[in-house]
Amino acid sequence: MPIAACIFDAYGTLFDVGAAARRAASEPGAGAWSHRWPELAENWRRKQLEYTWIRASAGAHVDFWQVTQDGLDWALERAGLGDAPLRERLLALYRELDAYPEVPEVLTRLTEAGRRCAILSNGTPGMLAAAIGSAGIGAALEAALSVEEVGVFKPDARVYGLVEARLGVRPAEVLFVSSNGWDACTGAAFGFTAVWVNREGAPVDRLHGRPAHVLGDLSGLPELVARIS
Ligand code: LAC
Repeated sequence: MPIAACIFDAYGTLFDVGAAARRAASEPGAGAWSHRWPELAENWRRKQLEYTWIRASAGAHVDFWQVTQDGLDWALERAGLGDAPLRERLLALYRELDAYPEVPEVLTRLTEAGRRCAILSNGTPGMLAAAIGSAGIGAALEAALSVEEVGVFKPDARVYGLVEARLGVRPAEVLFVSSNGWDACTGAAFGFTAVWVNREGAPVDRLHGRPAHVLGDLSGLPELVARIS
């Protein structure tokens, strides 16, 4: 089946979710917590994702900006950090996360090869627009599809169904690219051909679907798409 569109997860796949804490830790006056930024970033991300899964299964949706703040508040309290300026700085940096270094060139190569590229993310439309703008990758993206259209987080099938509903591409013609192992598995179970970008060298998740392809980062994606199309 030819690949008609490459659909990207956003956070962790195109945008470096560790970048906000890493950058804040390197700024003047960061102080005593700066060497603990990896732990803060890890707890922030873990709680943010846990809250999406719990809220989806409980039918208690709030948007991703809210769970991003809730996850950060948990991580800051865990680290014994109560200062409001640090919280505000981390949130501001999260809205303008760095893209991974290979992302702009990979998207350009895919679009030059005639591939349709879009984002499908838990992020709100406002968060996605800000991150796309600061990364300068908007020209390569046909759309940024947000779960806010259906009011539930991944991996609810209504989210994955947005690709066909909005872009008119059937699941079997979608190459779904995610660095979140669970998202790659559940996207595969939905019917996408899934690529897991395994940046951490982690074991594959034991879930009800399996990614068809695994890459260490995104740089090999244009060749993979050319090979399997
Ligand atoms: C997203 C989260 C899962 O962008 O990273 O949807």
